[in-house]
Amino acid sequence: MKQTLLRSRIVHFRDDIAGPPDSALEYFEDGVIGFADGHITLLDDARRAAKQGLDLSTAEHRPDALISCGFIDAHVHAPQLAVMGSYGEKLLDWLQKYTFPAELRFADEEISRQNADFFIDALLAHGTTSAMVFTTSFAHSTEHLFEAAQRAGMRLIAGKVLMDCNAPDALLDTPERALRESAALIEKWHGRGRLGYAVTPRFAGTSSRAQLTVAGQLLRNYPDLWLQTHLSENRDEIAWTATLFPEASDYLNIYERYGLHGERSVYAHCIHLTASEQQRLTDAGAAVAFCPSSNLFLGSGLLELQQLRERGIPVALATDVGAGTGLCQLQSMGEAYKVCQLQDYALGAAEAFYMATLGAARALHLERYIGNLAPGKEADLLLLNGSRVPLLRERLRHCRNIREELFAYMSMGDERIIERAYVSGVAIGKSARPGYRQSS
Ligand code: GUN
Ligand code: ZN
Repeated sequence: MKQTLLRSRIVHFRDDIAGPPDSALEYFEDGVIGFADGHITLLDDARRAAKQGLDLSTAEHRPDALISCGFIDAHVHAPQLAVMGSYGEKLLDWLQKYTFPAELRFADEEISRQNADFFIDALLAHGTTSAMVFTTSFAHSTEHLFEAAQRAGMRLIAGKVLMDCNAPDALLDTPERALRESAALIEKWHGRGRLGYAVTPRFAGTSSRAQLTVAGQLLRNYPDLWLQTHLSENRDEIAWTATLFPEASDYLNIYERYGLHGERSVYAHCIHLTASEQQRLTDAGAAVAFCPSSNLFLGSGLLELQQLRERGIPVALATDVGAGTGLCQLQSMGEAYKVCQLQDYALGAAEAFYMATLGAARALHLERYIGNLAPGKEADLLLLNGSRVPLLRERLRHCRNIREELFAYMSMGDERIIERAYVSGVAIGKSARPGYRQSS
């Protein structure tokens, strides 16, 4: 197959930015990237590659742009686009007042199907080429999301939400239905193309002991699945779940008791963990999805990022739409910076971008496939163009190096700067995504 060549400025991560300074972030002022058959074939300095015989005459030359790896969103709810920006409530009331009613609409298969297409288009328009996604408790909503992701060629992990108590009746399943429907979805979709399945108990508050047992059973039966759920987001939630599971020593212990804790577990939020819970995350190799936009919007609290990273816990950045107020991971990075500022920690641009690319791929055990631009990886990449946002363009004229530039993108950028996304080497221009009705 013909190789596509792009010559541009290029940035990505070779390794964890916690390692030796400056060895992790790799930047080419004049780089070339090639891909064919959905995979990256070449990444080099353009002049060095030309000297070694590469014909650059067919390369698209974009010295004005910056090529980055596609963003990964480690925690997002496909059915919650309609509740973004809903006023006035904290987590438990927000769920009852806005979120459960919105998810109830997904009983209608047509609404579910249309939303799945719109959601996938919207992710790509925001430069998110992979995600770990909650659907609803209706199995068909998971089916529709996988179908839409497959059409787009995206690497995506998703699961049917398991919930059998403490929500409107029509949203509840039963332990038996949870087992039957999850197993059917797993058999059909897990490992199909670029798709993967996550067992998805919503959180301890909406699953009975019998249902958490089923979730553990699924993970034992299919050991290469992921687990995704919520953990320790809000103080009222923590106090309430403690009354539901008085036998548990703390919130994490509820999940531990049912085998819902391991290196393929991804817990969203983790804001109010005890030292013991943090240590048990480290010991298990479990990952945290950091959702700063959501955490600020719902007033849930401030993730102790520095502490989690120091403990060696993999942290991946996430939007948590619809509690998060947008799908743009650049804006998640900007919000993450503010969360850290409030704790006297100056989050660097490299660390922020790492958490949305290679760091997220590592946290989700997808590093073999995605996360950076190393030859052999799947060709999920972005053409960023900061000049599309006038104020950002003005700021960029004064940036002295790539770190300052990345910091300007995360502080002032939005989806307008995502000029183009490539998914498995296929260019997705925004105009080619008619399902996503952009306002701009
Ligand atoms: N905890 C349980 N369900 C949810 C949800 O849908 N969003 C958030 N932010 N937290 C949750
Ligand atoms: Zn969530």
